[in-house]
Amino acid sequence: MALRVGMLTSGGDCQGLNPAMRGVAKALYEHAEDTQIIGFLNGYEGLMTGHSLKMRESDFSGILTRGGTILGTSRQPFKSMNDPLEEGRLDGPTKLEAMIDTYKTMSLDALVILGGNGTHKTANLLHENGLNVVTLPKTIDNDIWGTKRTFGYQSAIDIATQVIDGIHTTATSHGRVFIIEIMGHKVGWMTLEAGIAGGADVILIPEIPYDPLALLKALNRRDKKNKRFSIIAIAEGAKTKAEAAMSKAEYEEHRKNSRHPSVAYELAETLDAMMVQEVRCTVPGHFQRGGEPCPYDRVLTTRLGVAAANAIINREFGVMVAYINDEIAHVPLAEVAGRLKYVPLDHDLIQVARQTGISFGDEV
Ligand code: F6P
Repeated sequence: MALRVGMLTSGGDCQGLNPAMRGVAKALYEHAEDTQIIGFLNGYEGLMTGHSLKMRESDFSGILTRGGTILGTSRQPFKSMNDPLEEGRLDGPTKLEAMIDTYKTMSLDALVILGGNGTHKTANLLHENGLNVVTLPKTIDNDIWGTKRTFGYQSAIDIATQVIDGIHTTATSHGRVFIIEIMGHKVGWMTLEAGIAGGADVILIPEIPYDPLALLKALNRRDKKNKRFSIIAIAEGAKTKAEAAMSKAEYEEHRKNSRHPSVAYELAETLDAMMVQEVRCTVPGHFQRGGEPCPYDRVLTTRLGVAAANAIINREFGVMVAYINDEIAHVPLAEVAGRLKYVPLDHDLIQVARQTGISFGDEV
């Protein structure tokens, strides 16, 4: 009997979503020509409402190099899954019930979900409620527990590195201090790797709270060595030591009340007040997750996609296909859901950075 498989992409997009779906689809069609794939539109929203497309095999052709997602995506907070589907309608189904209902009504054999952290919490919930779920780890942040790398991450590093490279030349000409803010949500993976790849002089990541005075000292050290410019790569989630000491609520309040749109601008003002050198900021933002997937991500997504298809064929459900030690593994969703993968403080890249003179703004 033909397999009927649902598919959706959820949360913030990234490079690699299309090639990952292509990998799953091609392997499933290769396994059985009469495979039926239902593409749910705009993430979990499509699964809740049944808004979907009957995919044709040809829909998965020509998308290996295409950024974004052909199915569309949306953010659906995990904490709202027990809310009514229709706001205020307490006699109707909850979002969770609606998703289970769609799955059953459409007689699906399995559901493939491509997403990040929040998406995995909901995927696990669906699995706990009896759905045959297989997931793939998507995000430029590389913060999903259970996989060494997520797809989208390498493509975003490549872009962030190009930004640092570009800024380097202008910073050199003008002898300026440049702050480049890199995405990554609450973790510092992207900033660490792009910072090293782009030759940043200072790397500021959430895992290592910084002290503005220690940072100033590092910049002054460069000045004394006649280095006319400095590049600071700061993660969007980086915190000063004082901010790191705040409670979650205090920190949220502090950010809400800030007159600066993001941490880079705040740091620019602090440094500007302490330095003679001119300080400038660059925030590449969503540009980092746009455009085509790099070759590395095309290979990784194809591997993960085929692994997800194999999991469905072998009826191995409730797992995320992961990349660990250059091999593809299956990690139980229960292990992944609700856990963030921070940069460990003993990670060799931190050591490598320090030994090549990069400051993390933490040593006074
Ligand atoms: O999780 C990916 C990511 O790009 C983060 O790096 C960033 O913090 C967030 O999404 C931005 O979210 P949105 O696209 O909703 O603005």
